[in-house]
Amino acid sequence: MCGITGYTGKENALPILMEGLKKLEYRGYDSAGVAIFDEGNIKVIKTRGRLTVLEDKLNGLTISTTCGIGHTRWATHGEPTDENSHPHLSNNGRFAVVHNGIIENYRELKEKLTGKGYVFLSDTDTEVIAHLIDYYYNGDIVEALIKVRTKIRGSYALGILNSELPGEIIAARKDSPLIAGTSEDGNFIASDIPAILSYTRDYYIIGDDEIARIRPEGIEIFNSDYELVPKSPLRVDWSVESAEKCGYKHFMLKEIHEQPRALINTVSPRVSDDCGIDLEINVTPEFLTDINRIHIMACGSAAHVGQVGKYIIERLARIPVECDLASEFRYRFPILKKNDLCIVISQSGETADTLAALREAKRRGVRVLSIVNVVGSTIARESDEVLYTWAGPEIAVATTKAYSTQLSLVYLIAVHIAKTRGEISDSDARRLVSEIKELPEKLNQVLAKTAELQYLSSRFYNLRDIFFIGRGVDFAVALEGSLKLKEISYIRSEAYAAGELKHGTIALIEEGSLVIALVTQTALAEKMLGNIREVKARGARVLTIATQATAEAVSEASDYCLMLPCCYDMFTPSLTVAALQLFAYYIAAARGCDVDKPKNLAKSVTVE
Ligand code: AGP
Repeated sequence: MCGITGYTGKENALPILMEGLKKLEYRGYDSAGVAIFDEGNIKVIKTRGRLTVLEDKLNGLTISTTCGIGHTRWATHGEPTDENSHPHLSNNGRFAVVHNGIIENYRELKEKLTGKGYVFLSDTDTEVIAHLIDYYYNGDIVEALIKVRTKIRGSYALGILNSELPGEIIAARKDSPLIAGTSEDGNFIASDIPAILSYTRDYYIIGDDEIARIRPEGIEIFNSDYELVPKSPLRVDWSVESAEKCGYKHFMLKEIHEQPRALINTVSPRVSDDCGIDLEINVTPEFLTDINRIHIMACGSAAHVGQVGKYIIERLARIPVECDLASEFRYRFPILKKNDLCIVISQSGETADTLAALREAKRRGVRVLSIVNVVGSTIARESDEVLYTWAGPEIAVATTKAYSTQLSLVYLIAVHIAKTRGEISDSDARRLVSEIKELPEKLNQVLAKTAELQYLSSRFYNLRDIFFIGRGVDFAVALEGSLKLKEISYIRSEAYAAGELKHGTIALIEEGSLVIALVTQTALAEKMLGNIREVKARGARVLTIATQATAEAVSEASDYCLMLPCCYDMFTPSLTVAALQLFAYYIAAARGCDVDKPKNLAKSVTVE
């Protein structure tokens, strides 16, 4: 996600802003910029690319300024370009804004502001804030910001300069992190602690719905009634390294716990309060109605999302779905028809095998919709339509929040196509969307089972191999659970369709083998009970992951049973996978593995 820095005080602001942005580079970004006071005006210098590109632009300037704000952008709305970089200025140059988060209703706000004569220079959601502040400004920027916040929906951390008040920074946040640092030589704002650790360990947390006024002489924090909120500064005792992970031991654990927010960021802008769907893609109802087959192509975990998608799209939309490993797709002489749709899934948007499969589909004249996390990536740019997962940058090699947000988009696609084709009613579609909107809260309930999962991992971290079994979407999630375990703990693992085990692989089950049975599908619980008994009879220990609806049928036969909250059966993968991610994580941590950078692996496999 984006990084924000700000400084006002006695020192030259530019080096402090740049030092802070460098400390935030680990968060991932594609462009950067600063806004500073220069002889009473606000000057904005910003560029696509790394901080070194910004530094080259700054080196040519002879500006000494004691106040400014800085930003590293991880693109969500609008590709990485100079114009889409932050800070964004109001048309009269009076306000400069940097932002981390997503303004969900930016399109309607942009329409209204354009109608009032505002000229937009970028494709971003952020720019609406700069114009809204200008629209509501009557001499008091805190008052203006209080009004602006009643108009915007979404998540934001904001740093704002006002040319009428040189030396002052205004900051506000909702759901995106932002702190205000304090020192004898000046005061700061930052997305998180690493950006200010070189200058101070004393800081204030700016609470949700609070506004901070940062001046050289001090920091004031107001609530939404414009009343001062008395706060005592906190002191950081973290190392820089642990601060980058927000106190988590590994980026992977941090990203596992970011999943609820990532789901909200990905789903909320695409669904209305009354559970309608707007995917913001140019695909007509006629096209969706005429689709006669869907091909999903991806690699690794993204391919496992495709497997879940196959079950859900076929169940709801009644369209045949083929799910291909991208590395196999073009070598099997696939049968593609004009009315087919290819869905390509990729976190990085640069995976060579997936890109090659996309190009083969395009060569054959088939429409390609991609689900991608990195805005402006090659796969995104070469697709006919792209749906971005707004998971933010994923640092750990083992994907977690990207996988989960890809799932949520597959759910929305399945419901949207099913409704468009008349396979489900409008009310059923809205009910399913309502279920999707409830997933982040239910996911929080799963993540709260950390102690239980740590205990289970402590029992099994020394095993040589672990089996995963499931039926239906549980089989698809078993594939992901097995891959997570293998790639970060190096324990050998297989995922099997539970009904298939008896056709050979059950020969591997011996006394003490651990089998993880996924039982979330109500209609398949009895069948899974049979499979649990099958492996138990051969000496296996069974850890069952069930829901409140299926646990009764299988817990008795299991050695351990982890219970998940209930949700619509086909959406349980979003909950099951979180338990499997934590299980794999704690086993890998217990084995002393390099969880974030497993051996032999790369975050993006750009070679075939
Ligand atoms: C998943 O944990 C792995 N890191 C890997 O399987 C990954 O999912 C695969 O390489 C695909 O990457 P992509 O999503 O960036 O295309």
